[in-house]
Amino acid sequence: MTPTGFTPSPAPAQGARWAVCADLLDFTADPGWQAHAVPLRQATTSEGVRWRPAHWLMVEGECIVGVMPSSSTPPESFECFDRRGLLLTPGLIDTHVHLPQLGVVASHGTGLLDWLETYTFPAEQAFASPAVAEQGAAVFLDALLAHGTTSAMVFPTVHATSVEALFSAASRRGMAITAGKCLMDRHAPDGLRDDVLEADRQCRALIARWHGHGRQRHAVTVRFAPTSSEAQLAMAGRLLRDHPDVLFQTHLAETQDEVAWVRRLFPSARSYLDVYAQHGLLREGAVLAHAIWLNDADRRALAESGASVSHCPSSNLFLGSGAMPWRSLEAAGVGVSLGSDVGGGTSLSMVRTMADAARVQASFGDRLTAYKALHAVTLGAAQALKAEAQVGSLSVGLRADFCVWHWAQGPVATLRDGLAQHLHERLFAWMMLGDERNLVQAVVSGVVRHQAPDPLLRGPA
Ligand code: GUN
Ligand code: ZN
Repeated sequence: MTPTGFTPSPAPAQGARWAVCADLLDFTADPGWQAHAVPLRQATTSEGVRWRPAHWLMVEGECIVGVMPSSSTPPESFECFDRRGLLLTPGLIDTHVHLPQLGVVASHGTGLLDWLETYTFPAEQAFASPAVAEQGAAVFLDALLAHGTTSAMVFPTVHATSVEALFSAASRRGMAITAGKCLMDRHAPDGLRDDVLEADRQCRALIARWHGHGRQRHAVTVRFAPTSSEAQLAMAGRLLRDHPDVLFQTHLAETQDEVAWVRRLFPSARSYLDVYAQHGLLREGAVLAHAIWLNDADRRALAESGASVSHCPSSNLFLGSGAMPWRSLEAAGVGVSLGSDVGGGTSLSMVRTMADAARVQASFGDRLTAYKALHAVTLGAAQALKAEAQVGSLSVGLRADFCVWHWAQGPVATLRDGLAQHLHERLFAWMMLGDERNLVQAVVSGVVRHQAPDPLLRGPA
């Protein structure tokens, strides 16, 4: 093998062997809330943080097949790319994002319920057209990759064709996507309402066609309690009962107005969360976005169910929805991952989302570490999606889904990065000052799917 600096070669053949040398960072467990100091130049695994500076990550076909220090040399059969000085993380995972909402990002002037009516529902109506859905899915997935997101749990629209378009486009890119037809049979405009029987039929057909097909998985997708009748929620519960390994996603207690509306619509429920519990929707693999306005009984019930929360700080700040107290959920035993919630959130960047989470948690006096934030968008998110045997870390045998990053871009970040004395200081500056402009490469199933326009840093695709 000869380390190469510039190789504009075509996509690697099936079973291709290649290796990249960079600073490898991933997690073996939740690192907690301590910013413990890890020396910059020494390989260590401590308190869940696995730090392997200047190591080769070896890829064969779709999988990671080895890791070795730069003092060793991969076998001749591996094409080698020396990226020493760059950061290499697992591909980032967004556990809550909306396919049809790229076009309403950064729309001015409303809170959640008005925002849905004014901007979001009209954008979703356009996805009734298969051509719009197909084009929208391609743009959306390429945009995720350009932000370093290699897997996601996605809300398409009420139209089954939008789910077809999304899964087809994800399969073409080798990406692992979890999604399902958005269920909504009331309180939505014409063209965005389904009915229970037809929705049930469409969901079952989508599950049969896509769940476990390649890397795609189905999630029963209830938009939120106000847009589903009791009959539709019961149908969603039956779908889950009939398909024990299908996932579930919805929104929960995002704003106070929404919580008050749910109280009026479901007077017999103990709480908003209880509406979902009563219909058998909470279990492991269920991901509830936001979960801001909960009480202690809700947090305990969530923990007992095994469902997890996707914290969406950028969206919550943008829409003025409120602040989610991460440590209270965690103390109750609830898992927390992160969602961009685009278009409520204003960026697909999970690095920016991590930085916003740090700001929101600081409002409670809780200092989110960069370790904990990065864990939440890698191993933690993979666990929420019951996919940690495939993605979320840089362990041998997992899919080769990873990202290569500049530690710093621009004069201020470069100055700050140069002053960092230990790993957490460096990673925290990367998180707070970085975004998709730091991304050099996103690799999915061993294939470079996004490449920054820097000819000196080309990979094998
Ligand atoms: N609640 C119901 N639908 C939505 C949506 O599309 N975005 C957000 N942020 N919250 C919701
Ligand atoms: Zn959302």
